[in-house]
Amino acid sequence: MATLRKVIYRAKGFLLTKSFANKRIRVVGRLPKIRSGSQIDFQPGITFVNRLGHTRLSTEKNGRISIGRNVFLNESCIIHSVSSVKIGDNTKIGENVQILDTAFHPVGSTDFVETAPITLEDNVWIANNVVILKGVTIGQHSVVGIGSVVTKSFPAHSLIVGNPAFLKKSLD
Ligand SMILES: CC(C)(COP(=O)(O)OP(=O)(O)OC[C@H]1O[C@@H](n2cnc3c(N)ncnc32)[C@H](O)[C@@H]1OP(=O)(O)O)[C@@H](O)C(=O)NCCC(=O)NCCS
Repeated sequence: MATLRKVIYRAKGFLLTKSFANKRIRVVGRLPKIRSGSQIDFQPGITFVNRLGHTRLSTEKNGRISIGRNVFLNESCIIHSVSSVKIGDNTKIGENVQILDTAFHPVGSTDFVETAPITLEDNVWIANNVVILKGVTIGQHSVVGIGSVVTKSFPAHSLIVGNPAFLKKSLD
């Protein structure tokens, strides 16, 4: 049974690789779940690891997810876009990370749902269980510590921690 499952996963991985021709996508375990009709751009070298869970990628009508070169996405992440989510080259994303460029629901008595683009610049490391909310840009070579909830933007070379996340120190 386990062997059959492995064969199916490998076959699915092959099909995914084929459907993104020349994009060099590596899938360890399960394929990510991608909502049908989602606008997602991949650069070559992405790795998805999902031995236990599923990463979910989805966009709505005007949303777009752009994933740069050599990006690593660990188990059970959720990336959802109604605006834009850009993930820079060589970025590493830990387990259970959520990147959401919308609040999904209005806050207060308005009908307006706030949305704003998210950008992770190149060479960022996002540790496990981090949440990144709408409008955030994280500068290149930054690290976001485990469990942080990032509600605002940070410059390059930042160590960002906490809920709400703050600049703990600048990295050399
Ligand atoms: C990114 C990380 C490694 C940084 O931790 P670190 O190297 O220990 O950081 P430092 O030792 O430089 O700590 C600097 C300060 O930030 C604090 N800090 C570090 N991580 C923190 C976090 N996630 N939340 C709150 N504070 C944190 C430390 O307590 C320390 O505070 P102090 O100077 O007041 O004593 C750590 O936060 C982390 O995320 N670890 C887990 C990584 C992970 O998820 N790996 C799985 C696969 S990706």
